[in-house]
Amino acid sequence: MLVNLIEDVQIEDKLSLEEAVRVALNEVIGAYAIVVIDRREPDKLVAARKGSPLVIGIGKGEFYVASDASPIIEYTKNVVYLNDEEFAVLNRNGQLDIKTLGNITKSPYIQKLEMDLEKIEKSGYEHFMLKEIYEQPQVILDCMRGRMNAEQGWIRLGGINEFASRINNAKRIIITACGTSWHSALLAEYLIEELARVPVEVEYASEFRYRNPIVNEKDVVIAISQSGETADTLAAIEIAKERQALIYGICNVIGSSIARASHAGSYTHAGPEIGVASTKAFTAQVTILTLLALQLAQSKGTVSMTRLRTILYEMELLPEKVRAALKTDSQIRDIAAKYKDAANFLYLGRGLNFPIALEGALKLKEISYIHAEGYPAAEMKHGPIALIDENMPVVFIATNASAHEKIVSNIQEVKARKGKIIAIVNEGDTVIRGLADEVIEVPETDEILSPLVSIVPLQLLSYHIALMRGCNVDQPRNWQKSVTVE
Ligand code: G6P
Repeated sequence: MLVNLIEDVQIEDKLSLEEAVRVALNEVIGAYAIVVIDRREPDKLVAARKGSPLVIGIGKGEFYVASDASPIIEYTKNVVYLNDEEFAVLNRNGQLDIKTLGNITKSPYIQKLEMDLEKIEKSGYEHFMLKEIYEQPQVILDCMRGRMNAEQGWIRLGGINEFASRINNAKRIIITACGTSWHSALLAEYLIEELARVPVEVEYASEFRYRNPIVNEKDVVIAISQSGETADTLAAIEIAKERQALIYGICNVIGSSIARASHAGSYTHAGPEIGVASTKAFTAQVTILTLLALQLAQSKGTVSMTRLRTILYEMELLPEKVRAALKTDSQIRDIAAKYKDAANFLYLGRGLNFPIALEGALKLKEISYIHAEGYPAAEMKHGPIALIDENMPVVFIATNASAHEKIVSNIQEVKARKGKIIAIVNEGDTVIRGLADEVIEVPETDEILSPLVSIVPLQLLSYHIALMRGCNVDQPRNWQKSVTVE
């Protein structure tokens, strides 16, 4: 499509290739990183980016273009990083010109790569997991780009538009997934039911596929998968498809099996996730699922324009708020040092922070091999409370204002039994500060969006504890990134 637009502009306005690319890109929305060549001008390449990364390597009489420096470093250490809304013209004679989409000429800033390949791949971070945790503000931005506009009050997930009437009229939405993606599904249940008032069921794909589920053509099945290759999720899709449901895939890997098996869907723009424990793919999924819930709510008229705008404006602030949540890193390192030898951890949250409690506990188990459990905070009194003594750290995710009073009373119950309380709270929460052993403050956002901020300190906590226990953070024992077998 984009290439057709460029060609149309080139022919109709009689423009050079680079001018045609510039004019065409001024008309498009969304993220891209592209390289264009014209058969009639084979001595020239035009490269442009917005939202997606792009780097140009300058060799001896040759150029390289890639999304990051790792494939280039073998050939040259001289690189130019293109900024958003800039494009470069690479000429066979060695000339490199850079302009903005607004037609302002820029002089190329050539940087020397100092790092070795391994460091470059990790952008200077010690581990992929840490790099991926830190990429989350950008990932959230990339997932929203071109898909919503707060001022104009719209949300546009391409995949939904294609099947709008079936999706809007669905009697029920079933969401199926595994692992961390299943936690995104649980969050989506809260979001879709709250905003769009459609009944939602969340199913582990491995259970769904074997329990002869009741599914029909009035159902929409959302399948969530980072890799797009998880065997159980694929099998669940096949069963739902046989029973005539519409399948909506949410995947990170373009062209993956689940993306191909779905009727419609949305890609999460998280970029490759290398760390086996999922972090940025999770926040990307939650961002897309929030947009999906909002778009559905808008079509069904279950949310007012004022409320919708408020949420969308808050979404625009999310990258900044997640960045602020990342600043808790050094404080969390100190907390990790204190609790790294605990044998068990409990994670408690209410409402939207219940799935976050599950995800926080999973992150800790996955990479530090500490036994951890997530629970809805109010369920603690039905059994887990028996576990609490002075050796039990209990992580409370207490960023949702509507549940504040209740979570405070849960904290008091743990305190009365001498449990150690680590609380994730909104900035300025003096009540919980007066009760907890450790308080980690994150910026407040709309309650609907709070999981995207409160997950960040939990990811960092598991990372630092695992590191201090000498675990292989990026490649934990016994499990894999992509589980393509049963
Ligand atoms: C594996 C991964 C997890 C992931 C789960 C589901 O266990 O290691 O991080 O959450 O599979 O994977 P998917 O690719 O379908 O999201």
